Amino acid sequence: MGVAVVDVWFVAAGVGEQWLTQRSTVDARGLPAELDAVEERRARRLRPDRRAAFVVARVMLRRVLGERLGLAPEAVPLVARCELCGEAHGQVHIEGVERLWVSVTRSSGVLAVALTDAGPVGIDVQSVASVDAAPVVDVALSPGERLQVEGLAPAERPDAVAAAWVRKEAALKALGTGLRRSPSDLEMMPLVGGAAVRGVPDLQVADLGVGPGIVGAVAVLLGGVGTGGPGTDERPRVEVRPHEGEILLDAEQRDQ
Ligand SMILES: CC(C)(COP(=O)(O)OP(=O)(O)OC[C@H]1O[C@@H](n2cnc3c(N)ncnc32)[C@H](O)[C@@H]1OP(=O)(O)O)[C@@H](O)C(=O)NCCC(=O)NCCS
Repeated sequence: MGVAVVDVWFVAAGVGEQWLTQRSTVDARGLPAELDAVEERRARRLRPDRRAAFVVARVMLRRVLGERLGLAPEAVPLVARCELCGEAHGQVHIEGVERLWVSVTRSSGVLAVALTDAGPVGIDVQSVASVDAAPVVDVALSPGERLQVEGLAPAERPDAVAAAWVRKEAALKALGTGLRRSPSDLEMMPLVGGAAVRGVPDLQVADLGVGPGIVGAVAVLLGGVGTGGPGTDERPRVEVRPHEGEILLDAEQRDQ
């Protein structure tokens, strides 16, 4: 069986504005020169706390892609076009670059970027507490998944529900619809370290080890370089290669 590699860069929860403003090369409160005009416009509209996460995640994304493509981060042609309203938001693509896919998440204080040549990718990270506070069981789980959760001991349910939720969000990002498609439509079939999705055989989901109380998942719609291709019987296993995201942002380490 082949392997579909996804590189993932994390900046862990707890790396807050103080670290970003004191040690990082990113002007988290301002508008770094690496952003393009669309990103600047989006950043200006956000509240300061949300702006810092958006700005830093975009700089991470640009630095990851810049290194991969041999471009300056500000020269990376990132584009997004919403299928619904035509505005410049939604799934990010690299214009003019085929067979390289990215996804970004900035939830629960964790920033993460996923990059792969295996197919469209989605990444999601959430705290178990934030998922527990939302009506996920009623809204996002399929009837079969709900039954499985109800069969667990009450103490085990929050972790299980949160794991199911990030798998679904990652899968919906890889599909490009986000929550325009109901997460309860996607039935996850748990595998060791991830899940397959009923009825979408080319979509594979791998769990991420992020940290205590935090769950994450990455999903790939297989069909790119190094995979069996869409519709083939042999489906590669998704292998996550984790990287320290702070290195991308840390002035001292980047200069070494
Ligand atoms: C995608 C989505 C599930 C992410 O929600 P979230 O957990 O709050 O946010 P995360 O931090 O994990 O992810 C944000 C990233 O998801 C990506 N994203 C947004 N919509 C996406 C989509 N339809 N498909 C794939 N990725 C998407 C973007 O890259 C975004 O990063 P950015 O803000 O830097 O551009 C949610 O925002 C969503 O469903 N959006 C689409 C809703 C929609 O299409 N509305 C119509 C508007 S006209």
